[in-house]
Amino acid sequence: MDKKILIAYYSYSGNTGEIASFIQKHTEGTLFEIIPVIPYPLGYNETVKLTKLEIKAGIKPELKTKINNVESYDTIFIGSPNWWSTIAPPIASFLSEYDLSGKIIIPFCTHGGGGHGSIFRDIALLCPHSDILNGFEVFGKGNSTGSDKILSWLNEIGIN
Ligand SMILES: Cc1cc2nc3c(=O)[nH]c(=O)nc-3n(C[C@H](O)[C@H](O)[C@H](O)COP(=O)(O)O)c2cc1C
Repeated sequence: MDKKILIAYYSYSGNTGEIASFIQKHTEGTLFEIIPVIPYPLGYNETVKLTKLEIKAGIKPELKTKINNVESYDTIFIGSPNWWSTIAPPIASFLSEYDLSGKIIIPFCTHGGGGHGSIFRDIALLCPHSDILNGFEVFGKGNSTGSDKILSWLNEIGIN
């Protein structure tokens, strides 16, 4: 693999993390978990309510995990759960915190039935000077054919 790959993701209940780990194993890139300083509540309903307000207000929570050599990566996968049809706020924080100009950005998301919603577009809006490739979406953490789908997507976008 001649490209230096980073797989940055946020995951609340583990699904996006599983997809991120699969991509990492296949690409041998570096896995980076985006973790906010203040974790979201453990209760699903509480988190649903809180994030509705956060997203509406455009809040970008402070992040606990930092990368100090982001410039050394040329291809960056960005993984988010679908939250209210858009990216989870920690993803907005990550994309605003680092200058990803000139890099190849590859979005992926997991969802509960709503597909990618506006996630791919919202990632592109936060990376105006990056080259955004076609994203991947999966329901939950995928099923038995999930890994084949990920592999054919990676192949399609030229990451193999
Ligand atoms: C706060 C919150 C909001 C959500 N909003 C949506 C939604 O709008 N559409 C959808 O399809 N799924 C929605 N879901 C379901 C998640 O996208 C889905 O369970 C996802 O796979 C979770 O990924 P994770 O385990 O990496 O956190 C929501 C889940 C949470 C916790």
